[in-house]
Amino acid sequence: MCGIIGYTGSLGASDIILDGLTRMEYRGYDSAGMAYTTPSGKIALRKTVGKVKDLRAICDDDESTCGIGHTRWATHGGVTNANAHPHKVGNVALIHNGIIENYHEIVKEYNLSSDLVSETDSEVVAALINKLYDGDPTKTIKKVLSIIQGSFALGILFGDRPGSIYCVRNVSPMLGTHCKDGSFIASDLTAFIQFTKRYFIIPEYTIVTVRKDGILMEDLDGNNVEPEYLEVNWDVSAAEKDGYDHFMLKEIHEQPQSIIRTITPRIKDGLPDFSDEGIDDDFFKNVSDITIIACGTAMHAGIIGRTLIQKYLKIPVTVTIASEFRYEQPILNENSLVITVSQSGETIDTLAALRLAKEYTNKTLSLVNVKGSSIARESNYVLYTHAGPEIAVASTKAYTVQASMFYLLTAKLGLVQNKMSVDDAKAFIKNLEAVPSMMENMLSLDTHIKELTKRMQQSNNAFFIGRGLDYSLSMEGALKLKEISYIHAEAYAAGELKHGTIALITEGIPVIAIASQQHVYSKVISNIREVKARGAYVILISKDENITDNSICDAHLRLPDVDDDFTMFESIVILQMIAYYTAVGKGFNPDQPRNLAKSVTVE
Ligand code: F6R
Repeated sequence: MCGIIGYTGSLGASDIILDGLTRMEYRGYDSAGMAYTTPSGKIALRKTVGKVKDLRAICDDDESTCGIGHTRWATHGGVTNANAHPHKVGNVALIHNGIIENYHEIVKEYNLSSDLVSETDSEVVAALINKLYDGDPTKTIKKVLSIIQGSFALGILFGDRPGSIYCVRNVSPMLGTHCKDGSFIASDLTAFIQFTKRYFIIPEYTIVTVRKDGILMEDLDGNNVEPEYLEVNWDVSAAEKDGYDHFMLKEIHEQPQSIIRTITPRIKDGLPDFSDEGIDDDFFKNVSDITIIACGTAMHAGIIGRTLIQKYLKIPVTVTIASEFRYEQPILNENSLVITVSQSGETIDTLAALRLAKEYTNKTLSLVNVKGSSIARESNYVLYTHAGPEIAVASTKAYTVQASMFYLLTAKLGLVQNKMSVDDAKAFIKNLEAVPSMMENMLSLDTHIKELTKRMQQSNNAFFIGRGLDYSLSMEGALKLKEISYIHAEAYAAGELKHGTIALITEGIPVIAIASQQHVYSKVISNIREVKARGAYVILISKDENITDNSICDAHLRLPDVDDDFTMFESIVILQMIAYYTAVGKGFNPDQPRNLAKSVTVE
């Protein structure tokens, strides 16, 4: 969603802001803008529909060392120059990420309509600040906070305060840092990672004054608030393409290392161990049922978790879409374990669902990739995945590290609840440790997969079928294909096809069939024959070395001979590459699919 950056320091602000906005392009946006203060007490404004490079083309004349920049993902009002941020009203310029719910009422009550030139909720806040400004930015912002409702991260310039940026947030993420080159605010770390690895999360409802020589924060009662600095263990190179054509391809290739980083510190004497995270075995002892809450790909990782945990633990596991859960009456008790899964840790629906779950149980655990993010901070316990920054909009490495975490959790729960012997748990973990090298082998199939996708590119529809764990996985395969190649794709339990959907199978329709589960192998093969007989173009993914019969499939991608519970890691590499090469073959940029944003911070 919208990207925010602010810089004040000793260097030229324009280049720093434009570079920061470029690094945040992955978040998804449709227009970009920048405002900066001049020493004479004026605010200069540049903004345009289009890409950051279009903004760069109109930013040629500033020597300012203080400014704010924004990439907008349209919510209120279309994609126009007027709706792009920053919004300048009087001598106030503002950037905003989030949604102001009561902006209509504010316009009426404060008689602001003649100040507005855009259709956005954000401009209303700029107009309100301008109207209430009494020469004291902090006091004015406090007044405004008592009026606006919704989620927001605001960066504000006052013309009469050159060199200072003011900000405040509620729910929507915003970070800050001070380093030798000056001070920054941003909606994510990639914006300023080339300057420092240290950052802090701006606390909600805290008024922040950002100056060249430091950052001051005060709460609504006027008390000073000290920043709590964190440090990331990746650097600017992790947020660059490193010779790959796209971030998505780079991130597909990074999966083996991401899994190693995620699981290795949590395996002691061959068994899962979460003591470094302060989660002792008692936490898992009385767990009677599990609810996994997430969105999109993270929810699909949860479905893998459900399949495994139910198999080994034999306790009920529900996977719920966060935006549904938060408006339902949860069926939870104090022994229910709620696991929220999120790469960004900022997805607003998942955060709201977590807040609701906490009203019912203290056993909340989150699997999160971004250190210090809202979901991580608000859960009772957190297990960080160590995928490193995920820049491509389509999630790949975050999914596999989330899945790997569910394998660790399955073994831990199995041991603690006496459903798995120590020997069985050790064997299970050993299989997990073998995953990264098996995934490496799959990456070498890329030329073959690229060739196969030539057929996929010609179709408007595709189906993914499988049973058991393969069905759980095929949901993610279908999502990847549709979000980046714009081919309509659906995942079906292979046995369910003939109850309706097989009517859609016509000559040449691609069907990606995953058949890696021995106990249902012959059943899936029968289902494949059913679609093949109706003309489908079948790509089969299986461990079977004897597939020669082209009455079963048109192409066969062979999996290594690993335990059935672990084939998902090898299969997903294939499905991710099918989606990637199909999208690229159709001429689309898989890193920035249309209409999508990386971190979904609006409801
Ligand atoms: C799809 C994708 C999304 C995210 C979803 C949740 O490729 O990336 O479906 O998985 O928006 O995001 P997080 O994990 O940040 O909560």
